[in-house]
Amino acid sequence: MHTFQQLVQEFETQITTRNVFPERPNNLYEPCRYLIALKGKRVRPVACLMAAELFAPIPSCTWDAAIAIELFHNFTLIHDDIMDKAPLRRGFPTIHAKYGLTAGILGGDAMSIFAYQSLSNVENNFRKVLNLFNKTAIEVCEGQQMDMDFENRTNVTIEEYIEMIQLKTSVLLAASMEIGALTAFAPEEDCKWIYEFGKNLGIAFQLQDDYLDSFGNTEKIGKQIGGDILANKKTYLYLHALQNANSVQKEQLAQWLQKEDYVAQDKINAIKEIFTHTHADQACREAVNHYSQKSFESLMQLNVPEPKKEPLMLLAKELLNREQ
Ligand code: IPE
Ligand code: IPE
Ligand code: MG
Ligand code: MG
Ligand code: MG
Repeated sequence: MHTFQQLVQEFETQITTRNVFPERPNNLYEPCRYLIALKGKRVRPVACLMAAELFAPIPSCTWDAAIAIELFHNFTLIHDDIMDKAPLRRGFPTIHAKYGLTAGILGGDAMSIFAYQSLSNVENNFRKVLNLFNKTAIEVCEGQQMDMDFENRTNVTIEEYIEMIQLKTSVLLAASMEIGALTAFAPEEDCKWIYEFGKNLGIAFQLQDDYLDSFGNTEKIGKQIGGDILANKKTYLYLHALQNANSVQKEQLAQWLQKEDYVAQDKINAIKEIFTHTHADQACREAVNHYSQKSFESLMQLNVPEPKKEPLMLLAKELLNREQ
């Protein structure tokens, strides 16, 4: 069994030595190499490898799947940063900010195709893997559309929010793990439980991401703090605050959402203050715990010896206490 750190290291070696991106045209591929070199946590590919290792020594084609998943994830980040007007990613300027919109759009497109190219090397359970990958990719698009639609709505419910983050974020973590299990020929029943584990963990992960967007630290998370507030994102923090706000706070929230001319930091400060006064920060932490608990219950259902589950259990715990 490998630890998360060991697999991250080996993954870095694999993704670097495979030279995924051609040399030319440089303006297309340099931005792609730039983002991949900025690393990130590599949670999804490593979760894929760990899920495979529950059932067998990691098959070589699981690495192709892991690389496909990380490339796909990075592609979604490039386009997400355009949509969210985000200036920073992994502590450095986002691709569209540094290289322009064309690089972001086309680099993202190219990266998604390279993801499929790597996926095509997966021999084990190929048809099932491809179907799950495609289903997931479409769901991510659906979730991202809902996320954008919600920016312009004021009546989003918590249920709608959970559905949206399940689609935009958690299904990719879930599918990463099920794909890993499929490449190791895991029994169907276990594939379902590992998917459930990843799905609930993914919901907790996005709740934590929302929390950090307002209450994290730029140096640690490498993103602009308050980006969600500026974009009028309907995060768990926002929805809980709105539900629990008094009439004055409700009015303030509504006014900030409509304002077009303001100092960014003023809006961030004012809305964060409402989050804190309505205990939205605390509620968000509780929601993280709720979904992590659910994920642990799914992991318990998996029919493999308990010690084998340790690395995934540790990964889940670390993700939920992360500051980056
Ligand atoms: C960011 O994902 C996008 C979300 C779904 C929240 P990560 O937080 O895994 O980003 P990296 O890959 O580690 O940079
Ligand atoms: C992004 O959610 C989900 C996808 C990229 C599909 P966010 O917009 O919250 O991710 P960050 O905070 O920019 O990483
Ligand atoms: Mg974003
Ligand atoms: Mg987004
Ligand atoms: Mg976010």
